[in-house]
Amino acid sequence: MQNEELRRVLGDLEKANQRYVNLYEFAPVGYATVSGDGTITEVNLSGEPMFGVDRRLLRGTKFAAHVDPDDGDRWHLAFQKALTDKEKQSVAIRMRRADGTTTHSWIEIMPVSEEAEPLLRVTLADITEYKRVEGDLRALQAQLAVSSRLAALGTLVTGVAHEINNPLAAALSDIELAMNAVQEVRGRLQGAGPLNRELEARSLDEVVEELQEAEDAGRRIGHIVKDLKTFGRPDQTRVRSRLIDIVNLGMRWLPVSVTREATVTVENGGAPDVAVSPGQIEQVVANLLTNAAKATPKGKKGEIVIRLGTGPSGMARLDVIDQGTGIAPTVLNRIFDPFFTTRPAGEGTGLGLPISHAIVTAHGGTLTVASEVGKGSKFRVELPAAPVEDVSTG
Ligand SMILES: Nc1ncnc2c1ncn2[C@@H]1O[C@H](COP(=O)(O)OP(=O)(O)OP(=O)(O)O)[C@@H](O)[C@H]1O
Ligand SMILES: [Mg+2]
Repeated sequence: MQNEELRRVLGDLEKANQRYVNLYEFAPVGYATVSGDGTITEVNLSGEPMFGVDRRLLRGTKFAAHVDPDDGDRWHLAFQKALTDKEKQSVAIRMRRADGTTTHSWIEIMPVSEEAEPLLRVTLADITEYKRVEGDLRALQAQLAVSSRLAALGTLVTGVAHEINNPLAAALSDIELAMNAVQEVRGRLQGAGPLNRELEARSLDEVVEELQEAEDAGRRIGHIVKDLKTFGRPDQTRVRSRLIDIVNLGMRWLPVSVTREATVTVENGGAPDVAVSPGQIEQVVANLLTNAAKATPKGKKGEIVIRLGTGPSGMARLDVIDQGTGIAPTVLNRIFDPFFTTRPAGEGTGLGLPISHAIVTAHGGTLTVASEVGKGSKFRVELPAAPVEDVSTG
């Protein structure tokens, strides 16, 4: 009776043990036991393929000998840290198989025993496939970025051609008219007939007017070209600045178009210092203020608020809030496109927002908008805080 009991217990134990062995040997990850000096004492069956060697031959070899030499330092650092801190360490390294091929592994090193000599359990998860997919995804992303940049470039070039073509055509026709008028006057000056002073003066006035128009058109082209240059290569200068100083400076040069339409109030809720090209941030503020002022409904004096504060994760925040017309949802997703404008011809180029966006992005920040038709809009600039100032004095 007792014997039977014993046999049953032993049988159960054997089954439990078998189950444990199966779990261990065929686990979805490789296990290696490594002594304190980095020598492998044991590897489970699942671990074998990552070394590419019969596991009986692995015993006694250094784990580091199976790590890709380029990742040797990472392995050593993590291993030593696991030993000294007695805490689990995780690291992604490449393993070099016996046949020279490599696999990507996610390794966890865990101290398991302290008895006579430290012993560590190393878990190896094969992430080669994951790395491959990640690589493919990156390549795909790069391709997508290129094609969307090309598409954006196409839009930009078409816009530039269109925007420059109008003033250019105007300038050319003005110059032609002026030239004709000048030639007429000259013809009369050289001719025999009597000169009519009043007529000649009027003709020349017209010439001056036409040349002035041509000059204006030329200036407009100049502006567009200058804007486009900022767009393509924003200034790289970075100066530690206080947003409030930039805003105050910008307020001194507010365009008349703004001061005529609206009053601007600054609410300084305190923003961390930023490392920026101050002139460019000033340009962003000026663009946002100009837009806000233009959104004022007819016959009203607008009220614009510039609010400074701190955003999540310590970003410096600058809001430009207006109570103007607001922006319709169909318009809202196009306002950052180059040359998109709802203004009458000649009153807006549609470069203010895309340039501001490019500037803020080049500073590692974001420019976002929230708007409701009939209520107004809020444009939000968030810029990374400048690194903590080096207080050491030389
Ligand atoms: N605060 C605002 N309220 C209402 N609409 C706005 C506001 N800001 C921008 N918009 C809309 O976004 C469009 C694009 O603005 P953006 O500043 O890029 O160009 P623009 O003002 O038309 O021309 P530019 O700035 O080149 O003189 C504007 O035409 C306008 O329709
Ligand atoms: Mg604008």
